[in-house]
Amino acid sequence: MAELKYISGFGNECASEDPRCPGSLPKGQNNPQVCPYNLYAEQLSGSAFTCPRSTNKRSWLYRILPSVSHKPFESIDQGHVTHNWDEVDPDPNQLRWKPFEIPKASQKKVDFVSGLHTLCGAGDIKSNNGLAVHIFLCNTSMGNRCFYNSDGDFLIVPQQGKLLIYTEFGKMLVQPNEICVIQRGMRFSIDVFEETRGYILEVYGVHFELPDLGPIGANGLANPRDFLIPVAWYEDRQVPGGYTVINKYQGKLYAAKQDFSPFNVVAWHGNYTPYKYNLENFMVINSVAFDHADPSIFTVLTAKSVRPGVAIADFVIFPPRWGVADKTFRPPYYHRNCMSEFMGLIRGHYEAKEGGFLPGGCSLHSVMTPHGPDADCFEKASKAKLAPERIADGTMTFMFESSLSLAVTKWGLKASCCLDENYHKCWEPLKSHFTPNSRNPMGPN
Ligand SMILES: [Fe+2]
Repeated sequence: MAELKYISGFGNECASEDPRCPGSLPKGQNNPQVCPYNLYAEQLSGSAFTCPRSTNKRSWLYRILPSVSHKPFESIDQGHVTHNWDEVDPDPNQLRWKPFEIPKASQKKVDFVSGLHTLCGAGDIKSNNGLAVHIFLCNTSMGNRCFYNSDGDFLIVPQQGKLLIYTEFGKMLVQPNEICVIQRGMRFSIDVFEETRGYILEVYGVHFELPDLGPIGANGLANPRDFLIPVAWYEDRQVPGGYTVINKYQGKLYAAKQDFSPFNVVAWHGNYTPYKYNLENFMVINSVAFDHADPSIFTVLTAKSVRPGVAIADFVIFPPRWGVADKTFRPPYYHRNCMSEFMGLIRGHYEAKEGGFLPGGCSLHSVMTPHGPDADCFEKASKAKLAPERIADGTMTFMFESSLSLAVTKWGLKASCCLDENYHKCWEPLKSHFTPNSRNPMGPN
């Protein structure tokens, strides 16, 4: 595979032409009477026309045939995709899942779309407020099938196997430890090369932004220039047998046939694009004196709600870093949170749980559900000598943190067969260390 090219910069106003057609972007206007190379002009709007300039998103695509050239959409098998948040009774327990099993290609060919499984979510698609977490488990490329989501944006976190993603804006290669965002309406098709697994955070009706940095200043966390946008690439490919466009619309899957590849965009310009980001580029902020900063210092991207400082969902990572805090219990503290915390593991092992939380698995700590280090971790960290130490080398844990109270699907609780019934036992050995007659045997604080 020849190395793919990208444009750098988060949310930039970009312009790109396939080098086979120089000058394919119209000069000085968006919608000439006749476009260069006799292409069709098509606008893709990612925000209301009248959004403030800082949040206004749209791109202009110059393509061989417009997207409208297709047969009518018809309902198809929904598989394990759902937006029904009342399938099973709510469950306030700490939930943890073992790694989800990927189907074997020799038994059943499953592509990215047929391998989508909704695990949890909340909110309402029709009013553009909410989110879903999906797990994808696949072994086959999509071939002459593409997908677009009318409901929201997909933040895709591959955990095993790389993804070659064809989009209307060009091609992206996304490997584990990278993420990509494919925004609402963008058509894409994914090639896979092995048994492939990952996580998806879908947010309805809002887009991901870089978090404000406040006193951190102008630089740090995920830097804008490390976000990569594909460059224009087209194929003028007829598909006489029929190319299938799959659409998730109001939570349901529909398919329409057309006679050509949708990746027929010769040139585009605008600020509404797919993009990818390598998590290794995250500049980590951490405590260098004592105590913990809140995990919001690890936010890569945020999908804001209308309430200031309150996210529909934050995408947060726990990357390799130094731990140097003095006189401090260094693992994550015990806590209860008004937010929902969905966690996944791309590779390695998470510092607060030595076993049981595995790559390709996940956990959900719901609103106000208590959680924290397991008993073993507590004992070790309470006695550890506090020298500077590397934390999480070879590991990448992430969190989707949401202000919404998430409901788990029937697939998540039952059909996936991966729920760890013994999760609660990791805290059972916690014992009282209370010494009522001795204030602090360990030291002065
Ligand atoms: Fe937590």
